[in-house]
Amino acid sequence: MTESVTITDNRTGESIEIPIVDGGIDAGSWKKLLGNIWFADPGFTQTAATESAITELDGEAGVLRYRGYPIEQLAEKSTYLEVAFLLIYGELPTPQQYEDWTHAITYHTFIHENVRKRTLEGFHHDAHPMGMLVSTVAALSTFYPEAKDIHVEEIRNKQIVRAIAKMPTLAAGAHRSSVGMPFVYPDNTLDFTSNFLSMMWKIAEPHYEADPVLSRALDVLFILHADHEQNCGTTAMRVIGSSHADPYSALAGATAALYGPRHGGANEAVIKMLTEIGHIDNVADYVKSVKEGKGRLQGFGHRVYKNYDPRAKIIKETADKVFEVTGKNPLLDIALKLEEVALADDYFVSRKLYPNVDFYSGLIYQAMRFPIEMFTVLFAIPRTAGWLAHWRELVLQDQKIARPRQLYTGSGPRDYVGIYQR
Ligand code: SDX
Repeated sequence: MTESVTITDNRTGESIEIPIVDGGIDAGSWKKLLGNIWFADPGFTQTAATESAITELDGEAGVLRYRGYPIEQLAEKSTYLEVAFLLIYGELPTPQQYEDWTHAITYHTFIHENVRKRTLEGFHHDAHPMGMLVSTVAALSTFYPEAKDIHVEEIRNKQIVRAIAKMPTLAAGAHRSSVGMPFVYPDNTLDFTSNFLSMMWKIAEPHYEADPVLSRALDVLFILHADHEQNCGTTAMRVIGSSHADPYSALAGATAALYGPRHGGANEAVIKMLTEIGHIDNVADYVKSVKEGKGRLQGFGHRVYKNYDPRAKIIKETADKVFEVTGKNPLLDIALKLEEVALADDYFVSRKLYPNVDFYSGLIYQAMRFPIEMFTVLFAIPRTAGWLAHWRELVLQDQKIARPRQLYTGSGPRDYVGIYQR
């Protein structure tokens, strides 16, 4: 059996054989035969938009690997900053590389005072933190104009460090502004997640003491959310990046895509759903309403995973450790019952709908006292590493600008009619 497909144009009887390479066939090959015939694929359900060496998913088996390393091993043994280096540069850092990387990020966590005073504090008192984050990330492009020189590696690397370092500062600043609390400056004596918790929660104490269990739990959650190949937000990053816009403008677009409830906004939607269900006795009725088409099980289903999302398994284990410190989230019992009922129901099993990364993460964030509006912000912080890894990869690949075609279904040619003749 040859690893190839043959396409025949029945209008002419002409055929072309195309080899299957890396799981795909090259569109440029069939262009010779089908020049003006487009493959219709809204939502890219059967389209590879790029080649990438960063993250590998096996949807049927429920497998996730970053640069070949299984997510289970990274979650157990690594840190978010080490994983960020791995995703972006392709290899685990040496001790010296890790020291330099951690130092660089630690000392770039400050934001320009005008970002704090003129942008963050310029929002309405009840502005959603994700809306604030999209805007402030975009504003960074105005403070670092050199970021436009995307083909200079030193400039690229400097923006990568700045963006990873400043995302938590912008995120915490958005929260503090939205609750009327004073902005907390980064504390360079703390590790990445402890510093974020300090910027979130520090009140009047001279030095914030983060609970090590919660800092580590957040670091694991950041590892799990760091990348996920060509998801909606990363596709936005790559499309904007393909126009050779600066990385901050591309990050703002990726953050905006993540905001949607079908994507990163699902962790917020899950908690609202569990709260609406209210009690495990109501789960059966809620599942029934979903099966009748009255809404969806938030945190369930995935374009790629047709098995249990491996990240959801690890998050569930992490939740137990967090609840030992914070006390169990009462919504957990409803979530567990919902999972039990759904996974025993053919409606979900036949559609291969399993809990995804968002199903349990919100329970942890809520137990850690994060406001629900911050949940997707907590997704954006670590996904910054994945977005930047894909941006750097596309720049180095010198990929063409993203410009898909369409199937035109609109009106044929017609002449203008004056307003009083209509
Ligand atoms: C993330 O892409 C990524 O990798 C994303 C992500 C990442 O790390 O970047 O993993 C993060 O976004 C996870 C997904 C978070 N979103 C949610 O939990 C929202 C709820 N889930 C969905 O709306 C849905 O499952 C999607 C958006 C995640 C996937 O949608 P698809 O692949 O377009 O699937 P579909 O809408 O075509 O659904 C297929 C069938 C349909 O039924 P039929 O029309 O065939 O009868 O499954 C049904 C859908 O109605 N279905 C659901 C469902 N999800 C799909 N039914 C009930 N509840 C659900 N959650």
